[in-house]
Amino acid sequence: MLPLPPIGLGLWKSAPGEVHAAVKEALLFGCKLLDGAAAYGNEVEVGNAIKEAIDEKSVKREDLWIVSKLFNTHHAWEGDTSRPKAALDKTLKDLQVEYLDLYLMHWPVAIEQTDLKPYGGLRLKDGTPNPKLNLKIEYIETWREMLKLKASGKVKHLGVSNFTIEQLEALFKEFPDAKDRPEVNQVELHPYLAQPELVAFCKQHNIKMMAYSPLGSGDSYSGKSYPVKGTGPFQTPQGGMPLLQNPLVKAIGDKHGATPAQVLISWSVANGFTCLPKSVQPHRIAENLGAVNSCRLSAEDLEELKVLDCGFRYGIGYLTGYFDCPNAPWYTSGGGAGGVPIHRAVYRKVKGWVVGG
Ligand code: A2P
Repeated sequence: MLPLPPIGLGLWKSAPGEVHAAVKEALLFGCKLLDGAAAYGNEVEVGNAIKEAIDEKSVKREDLWIVSKLFNTHHAWEGDTSRPKAALDKTLKDLQVEYLDLYLMHWPVAIEQTDLKPYGGLRLKDGTPNPKLNLKIEYIETWREMLKLKASGKVKHLGVSNFTIEQLEALFKEFPDAKDRPEVNQVELHPYLAQPELVAFCKQHNIKMMAYSPLGSGDSYSGKSYPVKGTGPFQTPQGGMPLLQNPLVKAIGDKHGATPAQVLISWSVANGFTCLPKSVQPHRIAENLGAVNSCRLSAEDLEELKVLDCGFRYGIGYLTGYFDCPNAPWYTSGGGAGGVPIHRAVYRKVKGWVVGG
């Protein structure tokens, strides 16, 4: 399995004005993995910070895992196979690096439009998918192009993100050679969404998992929602609370003298994931990177935390075609009756969209 560091810095939602300092702090604190993406809109700043840190000798390029993602706008599209290479070249230029350590397909979804700005972006203000975009499930042709990018030497390792078991199986079928398979699947993972089947499948197939939104994604469009307290679908007897405020998480943290964030990160690490907490605050970046030293969860703690797993998802998918794909992660999700019950509202309002959480 790919020997990734247990904890990296998540760069989703880190604004251009703040991400530069965050990356430099993280690298000074010993962080060795930066999880970025073209779609996060901050690769120029991230690149400047990496360059400065290397020049200042805070870190060596060869000790770093620089991760980026090929966005939906640059999948192969109806015979146009030039898009993936164009996207990688732009990312390398923005990051000011010769190669990426890991390049992920961001979603198993292609969007026809390469520039989303004239259409109003990916999502509407409330997080719902932008209905003006023309999109479809596509990953086979794009993976073929990504293999070529790896062969060019500009990418050391390849993986996927937001893939289901069915999609991974479809990829294996098309690309049966072990060396052509994804080495990573990065998905939303935290105690409210432990995804044991997907985790077991990836383990069985030697695919390393990376956990995004490990702290409950409090600064995203759905970060104020949480599962309802109860025993129904997408409910937990320990619900009614954002993840970082969950009393069980807090109690386990108190036992170890650790913060709730450290408990959540240690949960990820104990499960064998590479955890990707996002923060732009130096004291939190240090707290997060030190999670495992401050908090080693026991088997009992992990068993106790299982009660939180209720399939509650913060990230909303954004495509219509997923009605055809009942195993898509967001298809089976529900709940979301928290402070901002965005998911339910979305379900009611936007007929035809499949959404999660
Ligand atoms: P900030 O960037 O201001 O630190 P996720 O990684 O699940 O997407 O969660 C990111 C959110 O969690 C952000 O709002 C981030 O805010 C916040 N956060 C990051 N680290 C901590 C921490 N140690 N304690 C509390 N909140 C944190």
